[in-house]
Amino acid sequence: MLIQRALSRARVLFTSRYFSSLSSIQMHTINLPKSPPFSFSSNNHGCNFLKSKPSSSVYVPFVSSPYSTAAFSLGKSSRKGVVPLAALLQIGGVQIAKDDVVKESDPTNNVPDSIFAKLGMQLHRRENHPLGILKKTIYDYFDTNFPGKFEKFDDLCPIVTVKQNFDDVLVPPDHVSRSYNDTYYVNSDTVLRCHTSAHQAELFRNGHTHFLVTGDVYRRDSIDGTHYPVFHQMEGVRVFSPEDWSGSGMDGTAYAATDLKRSLEGLAKHLFGAVEMRWVDTYFPFTNPSYELEIFFQGKWLEVLGCGVTEQAILHASGRTDIVAWAFGLGLERLAMVLFDIPDIRLFWSSDERFTSQFSEGKLGVKFKPFSKFPPCYKDMSFWINDGFTENNLCEIVRGIAGDLVEEVTLIDNFTNKKGMTSHCYRITYRSMELSLADDEINELQLQVREAVQNKLNVVLR
Ligand code: DAH
Repeated sequence: MLIQRALSRARVLFTSRYFSSLSSIQMHTINLPKSPPFSFSSNNHGCNFLKSKPSSSVYVPFVSSPYSTAAFSLGKSSRKGVVPLAALLQIGGVQIAKDDVVKESDPTNNVPDSIFAKLGMQLHRRENHPLGILKKTIYDYFDTNFPGKFEKFDDLCPIVTVKQNFDDVLVPPDHVSRSYNDTYYVNSDTVLRCHTSAHQAELFRNGHTHFLVTGDVYRRDSIDGTHYPVFHQMEGVRVFSPEDWSGSGMDGTAYAATDLKRSLEGLAKHLFGAVEMRWVDTYFPFTNPSYELEIFFQGKWLEVLGCGVTEQAILHASGRTDIVAWAFGLGLERLAMVLFDIPDIRLFWSSDERFTSQFSEGKLGVKFKPFSKFPPCYKDMSFWINDGFTENNLCEIVRGIAGDLVEEVTLIDNFTNKKGMTSHCYRITYRSMELSLADDEINELQLQVREAVQNKLNVVLR
């Protein structure tokens, strides 16, 4: 378990390290019973989730909100930061009812309401949002350097099959990322995508050769200033045919790797200016060779993206045996935090005008001016853990109750007594980015957290 927690902690936001780890699933993977399969017809790039299964839920009209085009807020969210509950969302023109995704009685479903509420928010499609601005700047780079070549997809459904998310991109059956502790399962065959690579195989199959896929991705994780269970990635792919490399004196792989490095160095320069760069060899299941690009920025080496030459098995499965491709994936929040000086990942979700008004289309790198720093409030809780305990489960409960008011959850004490019982003490930091929190309010939240942790995780509070 310690190993797992360490792994989880080690994951950085964009987390090429996530997939670059070769480690397998540790314990606590729930054995999933089979549930009725949902239907996934071949893609029109919309959301095919439940397409052929009419929902029994009553559809309600959307309420237009200046900040979300799709989410319908039902939850009692009198306080900022407490998670609104979306009842219905629309992605790629298909409506999805909450009941179809969040089935509390289904043991194969671990998507809480707080996560469902994020589906369809699509921060990356907002023109004046840091993520939308960054996406657009990357588009500009590819449009200028490869005019008319790269197709853009930013509305593909985040609900994908296990096959799309893992099997199609060769993630090994025992890889840690497949565990229930790390991934949101809608049912045993269906997940909230944990990376935009989930769309690669299908796009290859449909004949696309140059594309950028941007979208929200979902991962169960710990809580701190750079981790949020929903974040955004962009995937880029370019395919080459034998005629592209035949005159180069290189084989297809070497040709693609050379083009990949040149293209991505250009992208890094477009985003960060004339910085020092280095390539680091790494491992991803989907590419070989695989690399990370790092830049020397603000005094340290920063990982910008993961990439490589696509594994031939992925291309073969799409029906083409003569092509070679490169692919990259990058985390938008990770880069935007650095480029715009955004100190806390929760801010991306803020609808506070003092945040949103600071960004506008085309202005990459305008530095965020913090409007105020409210005092944190610390609450510790200790309990005897059991074998099934994981920090991700704890964090999910805390997030479900306190929403974006929780800034960090840290293990501050850990010991095992003579009887072999292990005690953990966690410090929960509550802090709103928008207002000062009243003591009563935090005490009430902490009470709820304690109760839920005891009831849902079966731990013994001390
Ligand atoms: N999917 C990887 C992640 O989420 C990122 C990535 C790495 C995508 C390498 C790629 C790639 O296409 O070639 O960590």
